Amino acid sequence: MKAALAAAAFATGALAQQGAYGQCGGINWTGQTTCVSGYTCTYLNDWYSQCVPGSQTTTAGRSSTKTKKACSKTRSSGASTIASATAIEPPSFTTLTTASPSAFTTSLTFDSTTLTSETISSTNTALASSETSLASSSSATSALTSVTPAATASTSSNTLTSATSTTSSSTLITSSTSSSSSSEPTGGTGTGSFKWFGADESCAEFGENTYPGTYGTHFIFPDTSAIQTLMNEGMNTFRISFLMERMAVGSITASLDADYLANLTTVVDYITSAGGWAVLDPHNYGRYDGSIITSTSDFGAFWTKMATAFVSYDQVIFDTNNEYHGLDQDLVLDLNQAAIDAIRAAGATSQYIFVEGNAWSGAWSWNTTNTNLVDLTDPQGKIVYEMHQYLDSDSSGTSESCVSGSVGVQRVVGATEWLKQNGKVGIIGEFAGGPNSVCMEAVTGLLDHLLENSDVWMGALWWAGGPWWGDYMYSFEPPSGTGYSYYHDTLATYA
Ligand SMILES: *[C@@H]1O[C@H](CO)[C@@H](O)[C@H](O)[C@H]1NC(C)=O
Ligand SMILES: *[C@@H]1O[C@H](CO)[C@@H](O)[C@H](O)[C@H]1NC(C)=O
Ligand SMILES: *[C@@H]1O[C@H](CO)[C@@H](O)[C@H](O)[C@H]1NC(C)=O
Repeated sequence: MKAALAAAAFATGALAQQGAYGQCGGINWTGQTTCVSGYTCTYLNDWYSQCVPGSQTTTAGRSSTKTKKACSKTRSSGASTIASATAIEPPSFTTLTTASPSAFTTSLTFDSTTLTSETISSTNTALASSETSLASSSSATSALTSVTPAATASTSSNTLTSATSTTSSSTLITSSTSSSSSSEPTGGTGTGSFKWFGADESCAEFGENTYPGTYGTHFIFPDTSAIQTLMNEGMNTFRISFLMERMAVGSITASLDADYLANLTTVVDYITSAGGWAVLDPHNYGRYDGSIITSTSDFGAFWTKMATAFVSYDQVIFDTNNEYHGLDQDLVLDLNQAAIDAIRAAGATSQYIFVEGNAWSGAWSWNTTNTNLVDLTDPQGKIVYEMHQYLDSDSSGTSESCVSGSVGVQRVVGATEWLKQNGKVGIIGEFAGGPNSVCMEAVTGLLDHLLENSDVWMGALWWAGGPWWGDYMYSFEPPSGTGYSYYHDTLATYA
């Protein structure tokens, strides 16, 4: 999730600057166009410019409604949120780390006052027009929603079959089957229910500019009692974000940090001993310490150690990396394959492996961007293609608004077809919507579509739970996270 970086960077009170690796330009981009100190806004393609490490070039940025909301939300957040925000501060703001809470609050208030008087109305206009254009262009894709999957009958189900046979008898999974029995699959070999349904669990990856950072100041691990609440509501899968720079300190090939690993393992133990699934998510975008990982052997070495640490955990799932983007497409294939090979060679043969794609692993662009990943191989046949999909105008997950009630389906139908045509299975590893009725319709439409195609879609995970989200619009942290409050009753019907 790239928006996590952006939201956290805004929370520092930095004026109208995008955080590390955040988007800073592209067609119809209405957000920040300058980057925090130490990062430069760099053109990647017509749709994406991005803040990458490098000396700053200052151009006039403009405010957006997103920024204003992020800042005003932060003002009402608790002390722990401020601590996490501190972690992601750009170097020039480092002095604020030791500022007293009142000094920090003053700074934030000043900033948001400034932002309030900026170009909100023009931003609204831009957003409105871009939504209109997306809505009208969506008519072109609406025909696709009614396409009958020709490949349904021939869908190869090796992976799914083994998935079904290894389903544990945990009560979580039993109850999820019965509670969603109203949605039967329309074809294929699906069961009409999700194998994996749950939430991303954030915060061990916070503080992305500070390595390794300080526990409790720059990062924190997910709260197992919050996870228990979600499990009580039927969720069975939790994708735990962490940073490779903290797990392998100083070098990607370093031995794993015993403390950080132990803290991650505590969360994993909690989930798996309750019968749930724990997805290990190095939230690194195909990068280590700001640089694209180009050595497949180094990447494999990291995964050898991770797989060794969790070799005996059948209900751990290895997710090779979060949201590759801006990488050579062959490199994305090679890094994923190196991870798979290393994991299997380490003797971890029972676990599923989630692979992710380039371009932030977006489902909407999967069929044009990541088609080469069809060539990934696994002797165990347990590759699952993890895609992410947000429902706002640019699929970035940075706005409370959803384009339409049908956008969720529109953005994944192409991926559904790709999975079917290639005999693969997938999961939506990140999705979310703002707390409003249009997004509710888009979210349920998306989930209904995935269930109807449960021969190829094995589940979905909401972005995100985690103890430091404050009142972030998508927060799924019980008991009062914005997303949790608005969506948990509905999501429970899919669990
Ligand atoms: C950008 O916005 C313009 C004007 O609203 C629209 O015509 C165009 O299709 C949009 N482009 C994309 C890629 O959304
Ligand atoms: C691990 O968690 C403990 C608290 O349980 C904390 O004291 C310690 O600093 C943490 N270490 C790391 C590296 O996360
Ligand atoms: C690719 O996927 C998108 C989004 O789901 C869809 O609109 C488009 O028609 C697909 N293109 C092809 C060639 O399948």
